[in-house]
Amino acid sequence: MATVLLTGATGYIASHTWLALWAAGFDVVGVDDFRNSSPQVLERLAELGGRTPVFERADVGDAAAVNALLDRHRIDATVHFAALKAVGESAEVPLAYYRNNLGGLFTVCEALRARRIGRFVFSSSATVYGEPERLPLVETSRVGATSPYGRTKLMGEQILGDLATADAGWQNAILRYFNPVGAHASGRIGEDPRGTPNNLMPYVSQVAVGRRASLSVWGNDYDTPDGTGVRDYIHVCDLAEGHVAAVQRLLDAPGSFTVNLGTGRGHSVLDVVAAFAAASGRAIPYEIRPRRPGDVAACWADPGLAEQLLGWRATRDLASMCADAWRWQSHNPNGYDT
Ligand code: NAD
Ligand code: WQD
Repeated sequence: MATVLLTGATGYIASHTWLALWAAGFDVVGVDDFRNSSPQVLERLAELGGRTPVFERADVGDAAAVNALLDRHRIDATVHFAALKAVGESAEVPLAYYRNNLGGLFTVCEALRARRIGRFVFSSSATVYGEPERLPLVETSRVGATSPYGRTKLMGEQILGDLATADAGWQNAILRYFNPVGAHASGRIGEDPRGTPNNLMPYVSQVAVGRRASLSVWGNDYDTPDGTGVRDYIHVCDLAEGHVAAVQRLLDAPGSFTVNLGTGRGHSVLDVVAAFAAASGRAIPYEIRPRRPGDVAACWADPGLAEQLLGWRATRDLASMCADAWRWQSHNPNGYDT
């Protein structure tokens, strides 16, 4: 069976993808330097997968380390997750974002290219669309990222496109994720943000479990049904299965592609609060605050191309996203440190 290299392997989305790849019969080699994840993830993966994860601790910007690990393992395809991802922080320390997200991409691509390992899956983001011209977003919609983080994703896509044009042996699967949430149904792996969560679902989870007093809802005067922001939340296990389908497609058929990974449905902040309260049986106190700078009113995907090309579509609904996020949060109130 094929072996897949996962960079950023112990992170939130990669850890779920690791399990999905194992379930589909792939072997996995993971690499991470734990700058935003815990080594505990490896123990949980071993427990859930019933096998020992093959893992290399390394910074993907370190060419010597990346080359050395590629010398040790035979790889058929790569999923490149390793990146910094906090939009607000990226405006404060843009060079750190450009260096890590683009420097890591260069290093990994150069090492892979030298070995003619040209099947490459890239973690992109709906953030590349910036302010949507119209909804739903299709892959040909206008792009225009509005933060340094978003620009690292847009530039990453462009760099990879140039590479595929220059090298017939290089094929990209560029995956634009919408809003990944939820956790593995076991409650053993999930999202464990360091410090105060920036994103809605982990913040709501921490309010429900009593770690935080109340949610700030960033604006209720948008042109949306209830005035709060609307997003396309996608269960992380659906997203993980989308990666498996993308790897399989690269193995089965030549050619690069860019697809949205979303559900095609939008939910407001207050929809998420209500669904989480129902799933957890806990009240979620909230206060309406001014809009958060840089937020768009609404954003959701047309996931049709992913279904057509990959035979994949998301199947888990908002209630299941909240139930699984709550199982993870309530069993691990302090994340992996519990
Ligand atoms: P995460 O922070 O949980 O995972 C990223 C992992 O990469 C972490 O384990 C971190 O330690 C590792 N990492 C970062 N830089 C590294 C380096 N130089 N060397 C080795 N390891 C390194 O984040 P996530 O939410 O799982 O996101 C995974 C990918 O998906 C990222 O590329 C992110 O930009 C992208 N993405 C995330 C979202 C989201 O909302 N979570 C949405 C769209 C795209
Ligand atoms: C969702 C909604 C907020 C927190 C971000 C990145 C994007 C991608 C996914 C990586 C919005 C509201 C939030 C809170 C709130 N990541 N909200 N109170 O902003 O859609 O996307 O994560 O690629 O690049 O920008 O996600 O979860 O932060 O916000 O009211 O405490 O919840 O205003 O309407 P967002 P989010």
